[in-house]
Amino acid sequence: MLPEDNYSGIIIRKAMLQDLPDIYTIEKLSFKAPYSRQYLIFLLANADVFIVAQLGNRIVGYSCSMLENYKGDLFGHVYSVAVHPEYRRMGLGTLLMQKTIEEFKRLGARTIRLECRVSNTDAIRLYEKLGFRIVSTMKKYYEDGEDAYVFVLTL
Ligand SMILES: CC(C)(COP(=O)(O)OP(=O)(O)OC[C@H]1O[C@@H](n2cnc3c(N)ncnc32)[C@H](O)[C@@H]1OP(=O)(O)O)[C@@H](O)C(=O)NCCC(=O)NCCS
Repeated sequence: MLPEDNYSGIIIRKAMLQDLPDIYTIEKLSFKAPYSRQYLIFLLANADVFIVAQLGNRIVGYSCSMLENYKGDLFGHVYSVAVHPEYRRMGLGTLLMQKTIEEFKRLGARTIRLECRVSNTDAIRLYEKLGFRIVSTMKKYYEDGEDAYVFVLTL
């Protein structure tokens, strides 16, 4: 896994179980249907790329992804990326996604894939800025009936 990287006070490092309370707080502040505490514990133990952005002794953002296999092709699947509302628009989402992309290149993935609510304009701009492209729409993907865009980045 990546060594710690330091960007003017922000450290990007591998997530640890002790980060769970901060991650869960950000998750609840960021999503209509947040992952449960139990599911986050599962992801902390099993995700291939689970990184946090740390400022001082506080976690202010995270990104969590799995390496998956489709017919022999490895691809990174981003499960979640979120930044604490007080720390948005400062480049942290970009930083977390850039580190995630670097890690998947290192792990040998050919592409990275993620799903995003069609109404989530902040995230859509972030992904497009990083070179992701919409490849399809999944109808009623979310529990509340909203559609998802499927984004793919070719590495
Ligand atoms: C999406 C999210 C992770 C972006 O994090 P962030 O730290 O604010 O992102 P950045 O500061 O790196 O901004 C990245 C780009 O996203 C776009 N963006 C982010 N917030 C925006 C906003 N409020 N309005 C317009 N564009 C926005 C911009 O293009 C920005 O690039 P720029 O500042 O160079 O123009 C954050 O808004 C978030 O946590 N949202 C809730 C959780 C979520 O929806 N996650 C994505 C699930 S698919």
